[in-house]
Amino acid sequence: MPRNCRIAPSLLSADFARLGEEVRDVVAAGADFVHLDVMDNHYVPNLTVGPLVCAAIRPYATVPIDVHLMVKPVDRLVPEFANAGASLISFHPEASEHVDRTIDLIHDSGCKAGLVFNPATPLDWLMHTLDKLDLVLVMSVNPGFGGQSFIAHALQKLESARKLIDSAIERTGREILLEVDGGIKVDNIRSAADAGADTFVAGSAIFGKPDYAATIAAMRAALAESQA
Ligand code: DX5
Ligand code: ZN
Repeated sequence: MPRNCRIAPSLLSADFARLGEEVRDVVAAGADFVHLDVMDNHYVPNLTVGPLVCAAIRPYATVPIDVHLMVKPVDRLVPEFANAGASLISFHPEASEHVDRTIDLIHDSGCKAGLVFNPATPLDWLMHTLDKLDLVLVMSVNPGFGGQSFIAHALQKLESARKLIDSAIERTGREILLEVDGGIKVDNIRSAADAGADTFVAGSAIFGKPDYAATIAAMRAALAESQA
């Protein structure tokens, strides 16, 4: 496992009636981030949680909270999630009228900024943003729901993003994470790592099984096999 790999369990598949406990348990099981999917029934056809719930889980999350905004418009919610304890905030370029301004807003709010690429969204958006970003998130499903199947085409996109990120890191010396989100399981996490991902969101794969630590350990074992 040459890269420093991070596992980010998505709370979308957690038991929302016991959310604090779920966060505590998954952190104890070895999560590196807690991934919070924010959906608005407008940008995506589903509705989840807002800053109130982020603030409520904050005391249980002793690792960074990785907020994935699937909302349109984006900007009004950025300071609210920053105040609610987010460490990283990612958004979809199609959901913001002014992508560069939203990145600045996330940084000015004290968080790290990520840009998210839907399966059909070209990486062209990185051309004038990458040197400001802390994270690039490649979606391997269409956003909106947990439990969907991994879209294999995401592997090529990860490879392309990896190249761009590696040259940006070489140029600037700044850390930029390459995250993949959607359909990640123990049996395909290695292919995502081989394609260049270093941060892995997994919802149903982790919360769908009773032993979170065993699943996370199996994911790490699969990552350790990666030659990337
Ligand atoms: C989908 C979300 C994902 C989702 C992943 O819109 O962004 O984070 O919860 O769930 P799984 O791992 O079940 O595909
Ligand atoms: Zn997500």
